[in-house]
Amino acid sequence: MKKLIAGNWKMNGSLAANEALLQALQVGAATPWACNVVVCVPSVYLAQVQALSQGIAIGVGSQDVSQHESGAFTGEISAAMLRDLGVRYAIVGHSERRQYHGETDAVVALKAQRALAAGITPIVCVGETLAEREAGSTEEVVKRQLAAVIHVNGHCISEIVVAYEPVWAIGTGKTATPEQAQQVHAVLRAQLRAASAQADRVPLLYGGSMNAGNAAQLLGQPDIDGGLVGGASLKAPDFLSIIAAAV
Ligand code: PGA
Repeated sequence: MKKLIAGNWKMNGSLAANEALLQALQVGAATPWACNVVVCVPSVYLAQVQALSQGIAIGVGSQDVSQHESGAFTGEISAAMLRDLGVRYAIVGHSERRQYHGETDAVVALKAQRALAAGITPIVCVGETLAEREAGSTEEVVKRQLAAVIHVNGHCISEIVVAYEPVWAIGTGKTATPEQAQQVHAVLRAQLRAASAQADRVPLLYGGSMNAGNAAQLLGQPDIDGGLVGGASLKAPDFLSIIAAAV
């Protein structure tokens, strides 16, 4: 499978900074990339980034999507609206949403379902906290989080992307070792295989302090099919190095 590198800009950017970053990515993309590249940007910039990325092989994603279809949900953005803008991916269940916005497994599953119904690929994030890892419950936690989405009816599970992001590694500079990441990815792969004959089509991304220095080793693991990159996706040279490592 072609690897997938997805940038997660989080709540960063401005009209000027986004334009400069995309221009730098375009200049840096001297040869066609061997992997698929996506940037998940703040919703207010989706239209801008969608327009700027026309000439570059970069897909555009949102960082969230509403669990509701439409109506009286002030501040929410529906999957249909994202689709309207040509958005192809939506991160769902990022640990920052789970932690700061109280998103449960059930809510994350609904969001994934809304995205799929609109033809948008959900990037479903799973991952354990440091306390959960130290308590030996990493597997149990990620399996529970993935199971909630697998059990959403009506759509083929092979249409999703899964991102394993250990919470203790996000934005901390502490990366899971390639072995630690691979171990969890193998668990997730087995769970997907048990649920679908198409499981091997689901890209399993690693996220959590992936950078230019550690990307090649992480991406060299058998069950790591790409990366969900936060901080390093905001710096063109770093993001380009990660893209170059995804062969
Ligand atoms: P980070 O963030 O690369 O800055 O650790 C990854 C993420 O939260 O998706």
